[in-house]
Amino acid sequence: MSQQKGYLSNENRKKVTTHRLLEMKQNGEKISMLTAYDYSMASIIDKAGMDVILVGDSASNVMVGNATTLPMTVDQMIHHGKSVTNGVEKAMVVVDMPFGSYHASTQEAVTNAVRIMRETGADCLKLEGGVEIIDSVRAILATGIPIMGHLGLMPQSINKYGSYALRAKDSAEADKLISDAKLLEETGCCSVVLEKIPTELAKKVTEELNIPTIGIGAGPFVDGQVLVMHDMLGLNKGFSPKFLRRYANLYDVIIEAVQSYIEDVKSSDFPSVDESY
Ligand code: KIV
Repeated sequence: MSQQKGYLSNENRKKVTTHRLLEMKQNGEKISMLTAYDYSMASIIDKAGMDVILVGDSASNVMVGNATTLPMTVDQMIHHGKSVTNGVEKAMVVVDMPFGSYHASTQEAVTNAVRIMRETGADCLKLEGGVEIIDSVRAILATGIPIMGHLGLMPQSINKYGSYALRAKDSAEADKLISDAKLLEETGCCSVVLEKIPTELAKKVTEELNIPTIGIGAGPFVDGQVLVMHDMLGLNKGFSPKFLRRYANLYDVIIEAVQSYIEDVKSSDFPSVDESY
């Protein structure tokens, strides 16, 4: 068995905090981030050495089978968030605030944010949007809750866009994204996700911000990368965007294992004498 690499050992690493993310940007050390939604996978991903685990509202797609992230509720995000924090020791855990939970009023945003933090034990929350949600961002930050922003393709706004195509291709949308990113930084956000935007724009935002940028489909010139766990482990066959790199093909591994089990049950090969009491 190969020796465990130093940076992968959980015992040797400290809990990742928002301060550590800032330090990583300053040192030019890339930030790794991956989604998780349950105890068992979160605990493996944490032990593998991940910097940040995102309890994304992509749970709606990959855990529930919905077409969009919109149906997720605060209660469902709390269920997934608590399942993840139960399995994580060192990674920073970020939970998505779901669609509609920070839009009606700053008071409702704070109530939902406090509930998610209190009931999950997460380290940070992620909200989609810029100037439109800045009052909620400010009010939540005032309670001492760290916030990760999310700009570019914002899946909670899919009905406004009409598709999951690349965002900020024209200069008006690119200029707005830059000013939103600066506003989120000035307001006190600890980092910002940039989803599916041109590489050059992501590079410019990353250079102009002091807080780290974490990209998904935003090219290599950002401070970190995030992927959805089910996509990068090859658990689903049907989703193959250009930005996705698959690190395993668990769909086929699972099909093979399950079919072997079915065969062994049907042929009475399982359980053997050794597997019986
Ligand atoms: O919900 C999610 O998984 C996300 C990532 C795609 C960044 O927001």
